[in-house]
Amino acid sequence: MSFIVAIDGPAGSGKGTIAKLVADDLGFLTMDTGAMYRCVTVYFIENQISLEEEEKVENSLEKIQIDMKDIDGTQNFFLNGENVSTKIRTKEVDSLVSQVSHLVPVRLAMVHLQRKLAEGKKIIMEGRDIGTNVFPNADVKIYLDATPEERARRRMEQNKAKGINNISFEEILENVKFRDYNDMTSSVAPLKKAEDAITVDSSNLTIPQVVERVENIIKERM
Ligand code: DC
Repeated sequence: MSFIVAIDGPAGSGKGTIAKLVADDLGFLTMDTGAMYRCVTVYFIENQISLEEEEKVENSLEKIQIDMKDIDGTQNFFLNGENVSTKIRTKEVDSLVSQVSHLVPVRLAMVHLQRKLAEGKKIIMEGRDIGTNVFPNADVKIYLDATPEERARRRMEQNKAKGINNISFEEILENVKFRDYNDMTSSVAPLKKAEDAITVDSSNLTIPQVVERVENIIKERM
């Protein structure tokens, strides 16, 4: 039986964390659609494909095969057979992926792949445009939100845990707001809440509280 849960929302709202916990509890698969755009970005970097070269970009999409596989409970991504789960998280990819995700042929290819991979599955898909564009008829649509200040605070904590102490809260907050602005005003697939999505604002909730709320919404519709 197919059952699609769309979780969309801004960067840093906790989509990945929540999708994984809920999926483990309820026996769903997950799909991190942002990671797919990251795989394409790795391919473009490694094959020196400039984003301005439209024809090259289009032709190269036929040569890109992306697969997902669960290894020890973590979703791993394979680009043409190579496990690129670490490579897709580098700073270089971070700084290029947004531009890559705004290329129309890239979006068309990824949306097609996302629909194909989700076919017939019980799956939680997290991204930016799942409820609005990829699966407008998803069984459940959640818009996971949090204030820019809270998302900046979380990023600051993550940085601290990684030993990064040289970026101030103000700088992070400015970056969060800048990304929101770019995501929401983009001419291609702008981030916006689907009309029939349920907003879960996680600003003042703990992770278990968010998980519970999301699970209750899903259970009501199963
Ligand atoms: O969630 P993330 O940071 O891994 O996403 C990487 C990039 O891909 C980010 O710039 C947003 C974009 N993205 C998108 O345009 N559509 C999606 N469904 C998922 C991510």
